[in-house]
Amino acid sequence: MKKILNFTLNGDPYEVAVKPKTTLIELIRDEIGLTGPKVGCNAGACGACTVLVDGKAVDSCSVLALQVEGHHVETVEGLADGEKLHPLQEAFLDDGGYQCGFCTPGMLMAAKSLLNENPDPSIHEIRHGLSGNLCRCTGYVRIIDSIHDAAQRMKKEGGES
Ligand code: FES
Ligand code: FES
Repeated sequence: MKKILNFTLNGDPYEVAVKPKTTLIELIRDEIGLTGPKVGCNAGACGACTVLVDGKAVDSCSVLALQVEGHHVETVEGLADGEKLHPLQEAFLDDGGYQCGFCTPGMLMAAKSLLNENPDPSIHEIRHGLSGNLCRCTGYVRIIDSIHDAAQRMKKEGGES
């Protein structure tokens, strides 16, 4: 039997009826229609499905939708501010961190979670922060450089405001 779930997604309130076994990624992709988060392993091992719950990265394939009752969920679709890209997105584009469409949404959200907790991470801390997100093709150097660059951009923006 379906239950009513209330939560916010990228700032918008949602009230939806979901089955108890529906996962968060199924709700977001199949029922709400946001396809930024990807399904890779579907077992909590690759990070392609990473979203933020109350600012912290979670594997949305490993969370039941009903667990986000009353919580705030963010996907990659919520990163940009209208036409203005988030500094992470700008840095990924400028520094070559955007390598494929499959892992990038999860990488961006894991990076956002890291920067929420630690706005000025070292390269080692970035590596650690991304340890749950796999790239199966090109490698991590440009992704890590992009996150480091984004942190510097955000620091500068914060300093200017
Ligand atoms: Fe969720 Fe791989 S699809 S961790
Ligand atoms: Fe996406 Fe390697 S760049 S899997």
